[in-house]
Amino acid sequence: MNLWSDEIQQYILEHIEREPDFLKVLTRKTHLHTLKPRMLSGHLEGRLLKFFCQMVGARRILEIGTFTGYSALCMAEALPDGGQVHTCEIFDELEPFLNQVFADAGDLGKKVNLHIGDAADIVPSLDGLFDVAYLDGNKRRYVEDLEMVYPKMRKGGLVIADNTLWDGHVIEEESVALYERYKLHPEVPVSSKEAQTVGIMAFNNLVANDSRFQTVMVPVRDGMTLVRIV
Ligand SMILES: C[S@@+](CC[C@H](N)C(=O)[O-])C[C@H]1O[C@@H](n2cnc3c(N)ncnc32)[C@H](O)[C@@H]1O
Repeated sequence: MNLWSDEIQQYILEHIEREPDFLKVLTRKTHLHTLKPRMLSGHLEGRLLKFFCQMVGARRILEIGTFTGYSALCMAEALPDGGQVHTCEIFDELEPFLNQVFADAGDLGKKVNLHIGDAADIVPSLDGLFDVAYLDGNKRRYVEDLEMVYPKMRKGGLVIADNTLWDGHVIEEESVALYERYKLHPEVPVSSKEAQTVGIMAFNNLVANDSRFQTVMVPVRDGMTLVRIV
């Protein structure tokens, strides 16, 4: 039995919390208006994000990589009154689309605080501690993003990182060789795509071996890593 088959994936979606209609609409709009709709997290990951945020009793959530707002709204669903999701998006052409998405979402959208710009500039300027951070931006920067977010997290807080299995590239022989070479000679240039693989592998190795973090990997979709701040 192939536990990754489309049929099993469909079965899972039929036996978890249903996807709210407004998120189905957002998914359709994302397919109509963007070139890479695959980037959207979707039904299963979205419900998981909401679930995790509820489990830790999150009041303040940080996201790197808003895209069309799907995951930001899923996490906002978990928030009590007065809770906030601060989400950063570098691609400024998405701003009018996102403003409309959050306005259409009514009271839920009011819980989302959109920051357009590079998360590397925005996050250090945010005050206060966060309960949850969702890393879903530039894969080449996952280590830098984690180090940037770390001082902003409360003890016991949760960092969630997406795409950490990177389509399986993380265990491919050539990726392992690339990563070993990169560690020995970081000055040797790598291609843009290779830099993504190296970025993910460096992140995975860091969170598995650093006593600041308690880490589990969940093999949903492209891999989701949960990092508890010890
Ligand atoms: C995979 S998509 C995010 C998907 C979204 N979190 C969701 O689940 O629906 C990644 C997004 O990160 C944005 N991004 C990449 N680098 C960034 C950075 N340095 N700061 C802020 N956003 C960034 C990209 O423009 C893209 O929209």
